[in-house]
Amino acid sequence: MTKESFLADLLGRLSVEEKAGQLNLLSGEMDATGAKHSAGLHEKIRSGKCGGVFNVFTPPAVRELQQAALQSNGAIPLLFGYDVIHGHRTIFPIPLALSCSWNPSLVERCADVAAKEASADGLNWVFSPMADISHDARWGRVAEGSGEDPWLGARMSAAAVAGYQGSDLSDRQCVAACLKHFALYGAPTGGRDYNSVDMSRRQMEETYFPPYRSAIDAEVRTVMTSFNDINGVPASSNRWLLTDLLRGEWKFGGCVVTDYTAVGELKNHGTAVDDSAAAAQSFSAGVDMDMVSEAFLNELPDLVSSGKVPIQWLDAAVMRILELKWDLGLFADPFLRCDATLPAKVHLSAEHRALAREAARESMVLLKNEGSMLPLVNPGTLAVIGPLADSRRDMLGCWIAAGRAEETVSILEGLRGAFPENEILHAPGSGIEQADAEMMEQAIVSATAADTVVLVLGESWQMSGESASRTRIRLPKCQRKLARAILATGKPCVLISMSGRPLNLSREAENFPAILHAWSLGTEGGHAVADVLSGRHAPLGKLTMGFPRHVGQMPMTYREKSTGRPFESDVQYTTRYLDSANSPLYPFGHGLTYGALEISDPALENDRMESGGSVRITVLARNPGKHPVTDTIQLYLRDCIASFTRPVKELRGYQRVTLEPGESLEVTFELHDADLAFPGPDLRPIVEPGEFIAMVGTSSAEVKSVRFTRLPDN
Ligand code: NOJ
Repeated sequence: MTKESFLADLLGRLSVEEKAGQLNLLSGEMDATGAKHSAGLHEKIRSGKCGGVFNVFTPPAVRELQQAALQSNGAIPLLFGYDVIHGHRTIFPIPLALSCSWNPSLVERCADVAAKEASADGLNWVFSPMADISHDARWGRVAEGSGEDPWLGARMSAAAVAGYQGSDLSDRQCVAACLKHFALYGAPTGGRDYNSVDMSRRQMEETYFPPYRSAIDAEVRTVMTSFNDINGVPASSNRWLLTDLLRGEWKFGGCVVTDYTAVGELKNHGTAVDDSAAAAQSFSAGVDMDMVSEAFLNELPDLVSSGKVPIQWLDAAVMRILELKWDLGLFADPFLRCDATLPAKVHLSAEHRALAREAARESMVLLKNEGSMLPLVNPGTLAVIGPLADSRRDMLGCWIAAGRAEETVSILEGLRGAFPENEILHAPGSGIEQADAEMMEQAIVSATAADTVVLVLGESWQMSGESASRTRIRLPKCQRKLARAILATGKPCVLISMSGRPLNLSREAENFPAILHAWSLGTEGGHAVADVLSGRHAPLGKLTMGFPRHVGQMPMTYREKSTGRPFESDVQYTTRYLDSANSPLYPFGHGLTYGALEISDPALENDRMESGGSVRITVLARNPGKHPVTDTIQLYLRDCIASFTRPVKELRGYQRVTLEPGESLEVTFELHDADLAFPGPDLRPIVEPGEFIAMVGTSSAEVKSVRFTRLPDN
């Protein structure tokens, strides 16, 4: 039987209640991210009142529920979803960290391994990638995204989708991806999670939509709605968003699922009086699947019989779910991903650990390295100090799926492995948020006895992620106090900072000669940090979100507009703060390495670009040092005069190059019309003739520029 005839026949045999059941997504008990829990799971599954389950994994647990589903009238297998955000059992760096690799193929390889491990555990659906752009480090969920830039973010989300889904979803090792949170979840007012979003269509198109759009173009199979409202309409009942835009303009043909209890939350938003109204609004807007609210299950049958919801709409939604199940190979074999021997073979294999270590190395960002303090050459006795120095759990970060702290390498453990000949002292010095006089004293004693201090400070894993917004993004007070005490010993001291968000490290930047930002690097984090500190590998990461000087700068982006009164130092009536520089402390694209390349002024082959043509920009990169250097050379663009205000710079390309000592290399970028385009009056992309500035450098703030002209269309 063909897919079409099989599914049509199946649909024809389902009652309206069973159809509503297919649209009901319930949570198991392994995890929960909301107040409500799903009760009576087995019974609902057996009676056809459930189309998918999340927060249940391991082959036996999945097999048991799948068997229950096969006892239902339609014998329709279940979807099994889970928050596999940065790895399943082998945990990779948090997505924000991984994005600092500027390496989409690495992102794809990590997602591929995550899919292999998740599918070995019975799962067929992961709630990832999160493609929400954010300019606000107060928002705890920046940890789960790819930072502030739409152009780079678009590459990262498409890469993740390719990694999870592979080329054939019916392959046992592939899973359906879920693009989230649609839409604009990263722009909540005040950086407070779940808060409202009020935004112009132009801003949506220019800044927030590209990473969602690229995942749709990469054929992501499912989309999750966001909790927030958008210009007064909750995303989970937003017909313009889910039907006109997503399905209409963007041609998305897959399934739309809400976030956790988001249908029921329409009552809290104040747009629905009861579950019936909530289900009607959400379903009619274009949602297929209701996560945990059970409003579709309970209300859709009546809504259909009263004519408020056409049965054709219900059939279409059910068909989308059934097609996904078919494509995942579940009708051919409901137990396809339930081989109980697989987890032991697949999880945390040497190959997966090696990838986790490589990914962690590429994710770290060297913020400062005065006097080439790093790498540590002959460090003598090392004192490894700080509440995060030996914390495996914090190294994993938020959302760790099946990851386990006991399988994780802390920084102390990594350094012990990398410096076997050196004496290594350790003292936590304080709690993460609680000072302790005795611990501090021991830390000072250790630092005093050492030749070199590695101080590991930052946020605990709970301080970022969902529902973890903060108004203060400095190091906790007790850790700042510890830092002062350790610096007062006068010992050479490098700071390793860890967090799930950009931090305000202004004070630390003044006082420490070297700062390596290590985020939450996952299972192999400690080894990777040691690889970099010991100089076995040079740091490669480049910030994908700027680090502010002060939380008061939030929201902040390098892609800002010029304004009518562009900043001029010492000129009062220009756009500025009275008490802080406008610029970030560490800008987007910043990240040092061992050694530095010299980059020449950019040169153009031709400073006139024909309509439909291209322009080539070349710089000469030279390594003046004594060691090989790998760095990422970045290209930014500015449209000088346009019919709408344009950012002062926007990333349009980058290349990672490696140069041997004394070597020079020509690095060429090519720009085409698509790179110059921006949303026109009707928000469709246009290219306007006139002057452009191309800027090339090793961060968004350190660039050299050249001008060219885009000629008018013939
Ligand atoms: C809430 C989160 O917003 C979402 O990202 C996650 O996938 C769901 N809960 C399911 O756990």
